[in-house]
Amino acid sequence: MTTDVMQIEFRKTERSRIQEVDFNNLPFGKHFSDHMFVADFVDGQWQNGQILPFDNFTLSPALSSLHYGQSIFEGMKAYKNEEGEVLMFRPLDNFKRMNESAKRMCMAPLTEEVFMGGLEALLRVDADWVPSTPGSSLYIRPYLFATDTFLGVAPSKTYRFCIFTCPVGTYYAKPPKVKVETEYIRAAAGGVGYAKCAGNYAGSMYPTMLAQQAGYDQILWTDAKEHKYFEESGTMNVMFVIDGKLVTPAVSDTILKGITRDSILQIARQLGIEIEERLVSVEEVISGIESGRLTEAFGAGTAVVVSPFSVIGYQGKDYMLAEHPAEKSIAVRIKNYLTDIRTGKVDDTFGWVYKV
Ligand code: COI
Repeated sequence: MTTDVMQIEFRKTERSRIQEVDFNNLPFGKHFSDHMFVADFVDGQWQNGQILPFDNFTLSPALSSLHYGQSIFEGMKAYKNEEGEVLMFRPLDNFKRMNESAKRMCMAPLTEEVFMGGLEALLRVDADWVPSTPGSSLYIRPYLFATDTFLGVAPSKTYRFCIFTCPVGTYYAKPPKVKVETEYIRAAAGGVGYAKCAGNYAGSMYPTMLAQQAGYDQILWTDAKEHKYFEESGTMNVMFVIDGKLVTPAVSDTILKGITRDSILQIARQLGIEIEERLVSVEEVISGIESGRLTEAFGAGTAVVVSPFSVIGYQGKDYMLAEHPAEKSIAVRIKNYLTDIRTGKVDDTFGWVYKV
C-alpha cells in the first residue's frame, strides 16, 4: 500500500472482528480495531512501516522500556461526518506533543511522515471501525517505547512506534466524585509532569485506589510543595466556572498541555466567555462552592472530553455540585460545540479537523 507520504507494507487480517462488536454499547478501551501500524527506529532512522493485523508483539525480557520506563503515548480521536467521511481531531498537535514527551524522556523523535503517514494509512484501512452513534468516537492510541535489550541505565538506541485504535463510548458512566489529594503528588517542578509518559500514570494508581476505597472515583491533584493549588484531576485537566468565568490552572512543567483543554479555551473565547489561566487554590474552590460563586467544576481530556464533577471531597467533607440544565451549563455548551466541530456539523473555523 502507498500513502501520499510514505511507503507502508500492508498485511490484511484474515478475519475481521468487527461483527463481534456492539457499536451501541462501547466500553472504553476494550474492543480493538482489526489492524495496527508499527514502525521501528533502528540505525538512527525510522524504517519498516507496516500495517499489520492487531496482534501480540514478541519482546525480549530485557527490553529496556520494561525496566526503566522510556515509554510515552498519546490519546486522540476520530469521528465520522454525515457523509461518512473520517475526521481526525488536531492530529498534528498530538504529533508535536509526542515529540515534546520524547525529548524529555530522551527518546528518538518521530518524523511527521511516520506519525501522520501511519495514522492516515491505519484509519483508511479501518475506516469501518469509526463509530457514528452519538457520544461515540474512534479512540486512537499512538505510543513509543524503547526496544534495546540492555540492562545498563542509558537511553535506548532503538524504539518501536505503534498506533492502534478502539471504538469507544463515554468514559465515565456518571459524573465522577473527586477527592482533593493532600498527601501524594502527581508531579513536581522540574520533573516529567507535562510529558505523557507511562510512569506518570503508574504513579497515580495507588493514591487513586485509596481514593476509590474512600468512595470517590478520581483524584484532584494539588501542587507538590504546599497542596494548595489545583493541578489536574485523574488523567484530565481541570476547569472551574467561578463568577461566570472559565478558570483553569495555567499550564506549567507539572501540568499536561491538554489539547482538549486548549480547544475548550479557544471555543470559550469565541463564545464570549471570559477565561482565566492562573493559579486556582483549593480554598478559592471550596469557598466558591459554599458561597455559590463557583457553579461548575469539570475535567477535560481526550478520553472524557468534558466530565462534570458531582462532588469534591476535601478534608473529610463532601461538597456537592449541582447538575445544571444543558442551556445553563458552560461546560455543556462548550462540549456540544466541540462535538459539532469534530463531527463536521458546524464550520471548523479553527482549522482543527483533518479529513482522512
Ligand atoms: C486521554 O484522555 O487520552 C488520556 O490520556 C486518558 C487515558 C489515560 C485514558
